Amino acid sequence: MTDGFKDKVALVTGGASGIGKAVSLKLAGAGARVVVSDLDLDGAKSVVGEIEAAGGEASAVRADVADPAAVAEMVRHAVSTFGGLDLAVNNAGIAGDNKPVAETSDEGWNKVIAVNLNSVFYCMKHQIPAMLERGGGAIVNVSSILGTNGFATASGYVAAKHGVVGLTKTAAIEYSAKGIRVNAVGPGFIKTPLIDDNLDAEAQEQLTGLHPIGRLGKPEEVAALVAFLLSDEASFITDRTISSMEPTPRSNAGVKEPVLVHDVICSSYQGETSHAQR
Ligand SMILES: NC(=O)c1ccc[n+]([C@@H]2O[C@H](COP(=O)([O-])OP(=O)(O)OC[C@H]3O[C@@H](n4cnc5c(N)ncnc54)[C@H](O)[C@@H]3O)[C@@H](O)[C@H]2O)c1
Repeated sequence: MTDGFKDKVALVTGGASGIGKAVSLKLAGAGARVVVSDLDLDGAKSVVGEIEAAGGEASAVRADVADPAAVAEMVRHAVSTFGGLDLAVNNAGIAGDNKPVAETSDEGWNKVIAVNLNSVFYCMKHQIPAMLERGGGAIVNVSSILGTNGFATASGYVAAKHGVVGLTKTAAIEYSAKGIRVNAVGPGFIKTPLIDDNLDAEAQEQLTGLHPIGRLGKPEEVAALVAFLLSDEASFITDRTISSMEPTPRSNAGVKEPVLVHDVICSSYQGETSHAQR
């Protein structure tokens, strides 16, 4: 256990599962006091239990990140529990409808935009003033490789994750000179309940083929990148979206039925690989 985040207070949304859980454990393991926030309060409490059992300090709070009042209360909880806020990871997210644009319901669209995009606005709106009170801080928003690529049957998710990239850039321009660095991560496909609950083994194998490394990622691998971006080691990095694994033409060539359309792939490799969209 290193102590790189000693005396820092961190807030992680969607901290009960997958990437958020791994981030919470990683930050606490490096000395941060962590507010683990989630819709799933029992799950958040269980992560807090793991942190405390390892000698760390943490607090669980239930918040629906799509609800602006709940987000305001969540940030107040962090400040009143641990005395302020230094670090935030806006990670909570859902997969959304699995349908082409013309078949996507208005409700499905609105929900995925609310949970995956509006939430990041609500979170930063309340986190930034709390960080300014401390003289600065660092924020990492969790986007996706689908924040820079299209993906058949995931229009709402893709639009939301692209929005997170734009929101990150804008907040970074507005607040970096005031001491708050704002970055995003764009993970490739990571083996978490979000993938396991929405994609069967064949679909997961297809996604594996998109990664040059030939496997899905682990939540801990994203947590390492998030922790780096939050740390003083990244003191001259802001306004960036850093992908943990981008699809490459080489890796995409092995995919039977590509669902992921990358603009560079399309312009450079048409004819060599099939890019028929479903
Ligand atoms: N798994 C992947 O392949 C992958 C790839 C790129 C980006 N991401 C992004 O990473 C983030 C975490 O995903 P994950 O794979 O760890 O998923 P996960 O399902 O394991 O965890 C998501 C967590 O968010 C919580 N959550 C859902 N809706 C919420 C809401 N309205 N308010 C508060 N909490 C809510 C869930 O309860 C859950 O604990 C998401 O933003 C996701 O889009 C995931």
